[in-house]
Amino acid sequence: MKGFALKSYSKIIVFSLASILAFMLFVEIFVPKIVPRSSPLDALETGAGGETGIAALVRIGEAIYNGKGGCSLCHDQGGERAPSLEYLEATASERIADESYSGSAEGPWQYVVESLLEPSAFVVPGYGTEESTMPGYSGKLSEDELRALVAYLKFRSKASVDLLQVEPLQEEVE
Ligand code: HEC
Repeated sequence: MKGFALKSYSKIIVFSLASILAFMLFVEIFVPKIVPRSSPLDALETGAGGETGIAALVRIGEAIYNGKGGCSLCHDQGGERAPSLEYLEATASERIADESYSGSAEGPWQYVVESLLEPSAFVVPGYGTEESTMPGYSGKLSEDELRALVAYLKFRSKASVDLLQVEPLQEEVE
């Protein structure tokens, strides 16, 4: 009788373990994973609030440009304090093609990011000598803020803005 009790006891344990394993397997296969959103901007890209991700990103970038970044204080003053950013894609391409270019950007938008993070990497002729008078934004704007800012700069310089193009900025910023 004692042996029988022990036997059924171990059966219960084996059955319980098997049930737990089966349940874990079921969860693994059938329950969709929850992927955490890494940033608030990612949420916007899905079109939160009925706005497209690009429009939202550009709008946030514009707010940073005119607000926290203070860019308009220098850049929208008729070219006196700082170069115009109107046709930035074309200008940036000219800068890096110029033989006096001293930075390390390989494309126009990399150049823009470089201008923001390390303004003295290349100082636009006519706007200072070795040290740029533009403040560096490294550590002052988050990566998401930089992405939004670049989206806005693309938008206002009439370059095409799409999220696929905005994405690679992450590599450029690092
Ligand atoms: C205190 C004035 C000042 C502020 C504020 C400022 N800039 Fe500048 N910026 C300059 C000057 C001067 C230059 C040209 C010298 C140089 O190349 O660094 C420049 C150059 C640039 C360039 C390269 C332009 C070109 O024609 O090659 C970009 C892009 C740029 N700024 C973007 C920005 C953005 C975006 C902001 C805001 C986050 C900003 N700047 C804030 C003064 C400023």
